[in-house]
Amino acid sequence: MTRPRAKDPSLRRSLALFRAFMREQDDPESCYALLARDAVDQVEAYDGPVAGRTVVDVGGGSGYFTEEFRRRGADAFLFEPDPTELGEKPPDSTVIADGYLLPLRDAAADVTFSSNVLEHVADPEIFLSELVRVTRPGGLIYVSFTNWLSPWGGHEWAPWHYLGAERARARYRRRTGKAAKHTLGENLFAVHIGPTLRQVRARDDVTVVSARSRYWPFLAETVVRAPGLREIATWNLLLILRRCPP
Ligand SMILES: C[S@@+](CC[C@H](N)C(=O)[O-])C[C@H]1O[C@@H](n2cnc3c(N)ncnc32)[C@H](O)[C@@H]1O
Repeated sequence: MTRPRAKDPSLRRSLALFRAFMREQDDPESCYALLARDAVDQVEAYDGPVAGRTVVDVGGGSGYFTEEFRRRGADAFLFEPDPTELGEKPPDSTVIADGYLLPLRDAAADVTFSSNVLEHVADPEIFLSELVRVTRPGGLIYVSFTNWLSPWGGHEWAPWHYLGAERARARYRRRTGKAAKHTLGENLFAVHIGPTLRQVRARDDVTVVSARSRYWPFLAETVVRAPGLREIATWNLLLILRRCPP
């Protein structure tokens, strides 16, 4: 079988994403629109055009990814548990639902998509199992997350999380005058790359098509093969999984 390659893993792409990310606070629209186009490009690089496919976006926030899947002709649906994340104009037919227990029959989706949610759930293994359950055999599962030891692992209080979560949160409050959105152990969890890889590789219902850095322009798969180093250098792990036939 020919091995699929992620589309355009170029320096130009990574710089464009980085610049957009730096402007996220001032111009969230453009930032998330670019991120959504890039993520759907990645899905299509592994699985072909999404047009006509059923796509489930789990924990999709305000729905940028769902909208991009729809723009490309997919039947895409947003499942988001937190109404405050939806914004003013969520996509039509958005479902308020927890990723642990999706209101979907088994094998309902051709593509199950979850961007930057795994580090926000207390039990990533159960969450992943639910993504697998709703994906049809042969279907694709896209899961990305920012691991704890990534320079961005502490989210809004990064990189001070390297000195401890409590200290980093306190520093954020002092500097900004507002409470941080995330609290370790409540809505942010220390997820690591090594254990996550061991967990997915041990499953008999998925194959790992790719484990790579989501944003790196080069050595994106190589960096993930280096224990220790990968926890810091990967930045954000992208797992492309394929559901096995029963
Ligand atoms: C950092 S945001 C990511 C939003 C979007 N997927 C993105 O990549 O921009 C994390 C999202 O995970 C959602 N989330 C947290 N716990 C969840 C759960 N148990 N099931 C599904 N989504 C969850 C949050 O409500 C939030 O929308």
